[in-house]
Amino acid sequence: MKFIKAGIVLLATIHMNASAQTVTDQKMNKFVDALMAKMTLDEKIGQLNLPQAGDFTTGQASSSNIAQKIQEGSVGGLFNIKGVEKIKDVQKIAVEKSRLKIPLIFGMDVIHGYQTTFPIPLGLSCSWDMPLIERSARVAAIEASAQGINWTFSPMVDISRDARWGRAAEGSGEDPFLGSAIAQAMVRGYQGDDLSRKNTIMACVKHFALYGAAEAGRDYNTTDMSHVRMYNEYFPPYKAAVDAGAGSVMASFNEVDGVPATANRWLMTEVLRNQWKFNGFVVTDYTGIPEMIAHGLGDLKTVSALSLKAGVDMDMVGEGFLGTIKESLKEGTLTEDQINMACRRILEAKYKLGLFDDPYRYCDVKRGKTEVFTPAFRKEARQTATQSFVLLKNDNVLPLKKQGTIALVGPLADAAENMTGTWSVAAEFSKSVSVIQGLKRAVADKAKILYAKGANLTEDAKLEENATMFGKTLHRDGRTTEDLKQEALKIAAQADVIVAAMGESAEMSGESSSRTNLDIPDVQKDLLKELLKTGKPVVLLLFCGRPMTISWESKNVPAILNVWFGGSEAGDAIADVLFGDVNPSGKLSMSFPQSVGQLPFYYAQKNTGRPLPEGKWFEKFRSNYLDVSNDAVYPFGYGLSYTTFEYSQIKLSDTTINRGGSITASVRVSNKGNHDGKEVVQLYIRDMVGSITRPVKELKGFKKISLKPGESQDVSFTINEELLKFYNGDLKYVAEPGAFKLFIGTNSRDLSEANFNLL
Ligand code: BGC
Repeated sequence: MKFIKAGIVLLATIHMNASAQTVTDQKMNKFVDALMAKMTLDEKIGQLNLPQAGDFTTGQASSSNIAQKIQEGSVGGLFNIKGVEKIKDVQKIAVEKSRLKIPLIFGMDVIHGYQTTFPIPLGLSCSWDMPLIERSARVAAIEASAQGINWTFSPMVDISRDARWGRAAEGSGEDPFLGSAIAQAMVRGYQGDDLSRKNTIMACVKHFALYGAAEAGRDYNTTDMSHVRMYNEYFPPYKAAVDAGAGSVMASFNEVDGVPATANRWLMTEVLRNQWKFNGFVVTDYTGIPEMIAHGLGDLKTVSALSLKAGVDMDMVGEGFLGTIKESLKEGTLTEDQINMACRRILEAKYKLGLFDDPYRYCDVKRGKTEVFTPAFRKEARQTATQSFVLLKNDNVLPLKKQGTIALVGPLADAAENMTGTWSVAAEFSKSVSVIQGLKRAVADKAKILYAKGANLTEDAKLEENATMFGKTLHRDGRTTEDLKQEALKIAAQADVIVAAMGESAEMSGESSSRTNLDIPDVQKDLLKELLKTGKPVVLLLFCGRPMTISWESKNVPAILNVWFGGSEAGDAIADVLFGDVNPSGKLSMSFPQSVGQLPFYYAQKNTGRPLPEGKWFEKFRSNYLDVSNDAVYPFGYGLSYTTFEYSQIKLSDTTINRGGSITASVRVSNKGNHDGKEVVQLYIRDMVGSITRPVKELKGFKKISLKPGESQDVSFTINEELLKFYNGDLKYVAEPGAFKLFIGTNSRDLSEANFNLL
């Protein structure tokens, strides 16, 4: 087993004492050998089967007679059951009624918290705060394990550079370096340094691989890219999670090189196991096996055999393994060794979780009552949410004073059910803190808060219905658009300042929530325009699960605070930041484009042979557009504060790095404003000449610092050969000699630069 040293950007793995590890492995092997010797072929195949229990379904398939199947030994695990008593009952069937009493593994989509919900992962990633992110996963693990769960389908580490893709909400944005650090922090948080502890759970890295590169941002769509790009830009976070010791990996729905990941032997065996030395188990995504029939790979028997042979061990919901692989074995398209191997890996996972020692290890009903949604966890979630918000614009409007009259308008203002965002399976939506509750609590009797909804989510009721599923209602108002607007304008007229809680609903991002238009929806934007016409200061509280196209807003609204979906404590956290009790410090992990037409969009682009000089709009015969510049509205790494930070010029300890040597780059950062503040100091590097083309800049380091007004701090980064490595055209991981540029600054656009050479 491996565990990782905590630290902001340290990706190094330290191995447990090797001999202790060997003894543990030997004990496990002996145990599993003995158990497998007793198992029938059917029982082995049963371990590979993962049906869903409960009423939460995302696909068509559902499994019946689960209890009977468990008793027969035809089930290896279950997922998305909520409640420790229920789980205990189900486990009882497995360990008391099945022949070999093999315990089940219980999974769940614990994506950003269990019942205490943290910001959606995209928001969380904007904190750039690894201890904080790790802690959020730790809290999730404590709560989930107290409720019987020992396996989470997280972290989701898919790089996403196309904001049309709704699942951008579930990951850490566009950058492989930041994404890798977060992937490791999450695995550490879930698994701790001992998976068999009662309050740690097994991580499942997903969706392997390239799921975020779906063409045109349409969910589940084809991906197609060069191997050089895979290795340099899309693979790093999956590999980082594997290096951190993640116990399992989930195959993605999409194809890779023309073969769905679920049947892709190169991906699952060559890359994952042979190159990365992954030794856990691989599960399909939901009905990933039968979906390969629609992909056009053959019937259920064929695709199931392909999947097992590729190196997939567990079949989520599809029942392809359960129903067909015995026959394939008879026909000789599969070997018994292949079935044994998959079964062994699943039993090993159960062993590592300590389930054979005590199948009820995660079924402590007392913990279930005392360790979930506690005041302490909610406090942590509130603090964490404040760190995820990104201040995009502030023309001297924020922070607000707790005085006078504040008009709060917009469909997200009184929307407790939407605060947790997408994938919050275990949350109790009505217990979330809405914006209106948070604001009222914060001002108490010092200021007056007037509220009007002002607009529905969209003019189109059907679209709103599609975008408010799973109980995340926005309580559509039956009045006319005009009546709603007039009511809002009336309270706006009485106010000193207007806060507009607008944007997307929680389910407008997430799975199967791709969009072609990323503007603030119609009626809301109209209302925003009317509110601005009052001439009063307007703060846009932007709710979204992805970057939105807010060029117009960036020019016309005086203050914009991007609040994503902040989790169960969102309303209080929003009030903390609006009133300046917490100074915002979030930085975007995904660029905000000007237009959907620019997508996919990311800062680490290639230069092309005809680059447009930075800051320019259009030049004939350059790589650009006639109608918009190539720039972002808000670039990667961007985010303001209520204070101002000043950066000195970069100091390099040397301008030459020898092989095996290193240099230091440092800057002095000073807080020149009047508020305590946190700043994420960012390091980017450009390899000027390479054997393959290299991006115009790549994030290679970051440090989050806290400064009081008037305070300064020296921030330094070590640059060594390792940091300059990339996968070349032969997929060798190398650092090539020559000239490099180094940039340090407050975001990926506003940077100062220096030059050095690698010998
Ligand atoms: C999603 C996965 C999720 C699984 C189980 C699928 O539809 O793609 O991310 O873990 O369902 O709920």
